[in-house]
Amino acid sequence: MCGIIGYFGKEEALPILVNGLEALEYRGYDSAGVAVFLEGEVKVKKSVGKVEILKKSLKNNFCSGSHLGIGHTRWATHGIPNKSNAHPHSDCQGRIFVVHNGIIENYKELKSYLQKQGHNFKSETDTEVVPHLIENFLNSGKDFDIALFDTLRMIKGAYALVIIDKENPKILYAARLSSPLVIGVGKNENFLASDPSALIGKTKNVVYLNDGEIAKISQNDINIINLKKKKTPYEIVHLGWDLEQAQKGDFPHFMLKEIFEGPEVVRAAFRGRIKSKENLVKLGGLEKVADQLKEVKRLLILACGTSYYAGLVGEYLFEEISRLPTETHFASEFRYRDEPFDKNTAVIAISQSGETADTLAAIQKAKKHGLMTLGIVNTVGSTVARETDAGVYNHAGPEIGVASTKAFLSQLTVLIMMAVYLSKNKNSSKKLLEELEKIPKKIEIILAQSAKLEKLAEKYKNYKNFLFLGRRYNYPVALEGALKLKEISYIHAEGYGAGEMKHGPIAMITENFPTMAIIPQNSVSEKMISNLEEIKARKGPIFAITTEENKEISSLTKDIFYIPKTIEPLEPLLTIVPLQLFAYYIGTKKGFDVDKPRNLAKSVTVE
Ligand code: G6P
Repeated sequence: MCGIIGYFGKEEALPILVNGLEALEYRGYDSAGVAVFLEGEVKVKKSVGKVEILKKSLKNNFCSGSHLGIGHTRWATHGIPNKSNAHPHSDCQGRIFVVHNGIIENYKELKSYLQKQGHNFKSETDTEVVPHLIENFLNSGKDFDIALFDTLRMIKGAYALVIIDKENPKILYAARLSSPLVIGVGKNENFLASDPSALIGKTKNVVYLNDGEIAKISQNDINIINLKKKKTPYEIVHLGWDLEQAQKGDFPHFMLKEIFEGPEVVRAAFRGRIKSKENLVKLGGLEKVADQLKEVKRLLILACGTSYYAGLVGEYLFEEISRLPTETHFASEFRYRDEPFDKNTAVIAISQSGETADTLAAIQKAKKHGLMTLGIVNTVGSTVARETDAGVYNHAGPEIGVASTKAFLSQLTVLIMMAVYLSKNKNSSKKLLEELEKIPKKIEIILAQSAKLEKLAEKYKNYKNFLFLGRRYNYPVALEGALKLKEISYIHAEGYGAGEMKHGPIAMITENFPTMAIIPQNSVSEKMISNLEEIKARKGPIFAITTEENKEISSLTKDIFYIPKTIEPLEPLLTIVPLQLFAYYIGTKKGFDVDKPRNLAKSVTVE
């Protein structure tokens, strides 16, 4: 949350900062601001709301000719979204300019200490203590580097910081602790960003800062030091992402573009990794722990949001295919539980961004207990990828829409392959792998019928509440379908296991409370039909996602969307797609910005 961009190089800084902020806007869009250095001065511009508003305010060649600057788009934590709380923040003298992502937990005590020293604060943010603390150390005669070190030592919490010192415009400073920050390495130019996606089109070479590292960046040089003031080596990671992947193309929204990327995302996840004829799954990222994996007796899947729901599908997959007892937990709950561990348990952390704070904390806890940790991660080189012992990349390309869609399909594909990889009885997997290869074409069939979903969205868009029901593999799909509708259209939606519906939610059912039923013909569809009869008997409208083989459903509703048939463990790869489209169409019909839903952020780097 909160997007950070920094630039020092041969080009005009401001357009690069604004482009970067636009690319990072999914991280927060409560307010935005820039600070640029030009001819001995630092000029600051801030605005409330989206980056577009900031862009409009930067008229009349604001600071043209500058080659050094920082920018920020905010997801408010401390203080309402207004201009004074917008970043960059500065010290009393107007020498130090800071953008920050994370939370400074001890800011209250630091602030009152600094106020007693005579510092004048202009915002309610936690961030503002940083420039004042540096200033305080400078006032006591320390040089800038030492003042910055001492400041970082006093701060508790999480930070990604990028700092301009007006008195030394030859260096752009950056520091990281538990909040992501990446350096983009260019020719005669260097960048800083909270997410590599902001650098697409500028450079494909990045350096991820580690916790406790400080970077000093100039146009041609990168120096990284740790809090012990020792120079640390760094590795340049090459990103395979292309510019088109980060652009909407002919689509009106990233969300729609990313839903339509579904077939390719599934192909990209299994390409070169499965050989269905030989029942073979090859996951290079797991090779180094292959022997250890043979000893694993239990799996724990840890994740947040949509990745958590993919993990819930994983629970069914690992149990059925790998015959491994598996539990999926919210990372935010796992980190504070006090459960006994067995050393033969392995943890699988799932994260699109690879930077989610709760997921990272859960990994740390698992490591502390000596458990092997594996990652399913989309962002190459991200913190989850680096912190886990081994893992599998999604190769889904950048996901820009805040509500996750294509990453879910990709995560499911990787989980299916991992389940086969961990299975002791590989012979039973041939059919599953053959079917997996057919999934992209089947998703294409669903996408080709999107107009039908748009029509149904028109019919259903004014309801205030929805119940989503599924059983077995489609129970997590019901949860994810409800989440999508909530995120995008702000309609209250609840996902439930269909069998559990009679223990509570049925009390809500009236003719104004529709049910989205995920009911392909399978081992539990008969059971679900009975649950839907109970809904029909209470006049609840039903919208069913089903397969042609299911003949009974037409006696319960006329609102039916047919998907192609597949085997049960693979059904979520198909059943989720119409639900993503349904949420998209309802959200857009209601006039909402579906790519940037209110109050949400794509990468949640605070607890
Ligand atoms: C946020 C996003 C969700 C995402 C979740 C987990 O809440 O809005 O779309 O599923 O974080 O993110 P991760 O990057 O760890 O998968």
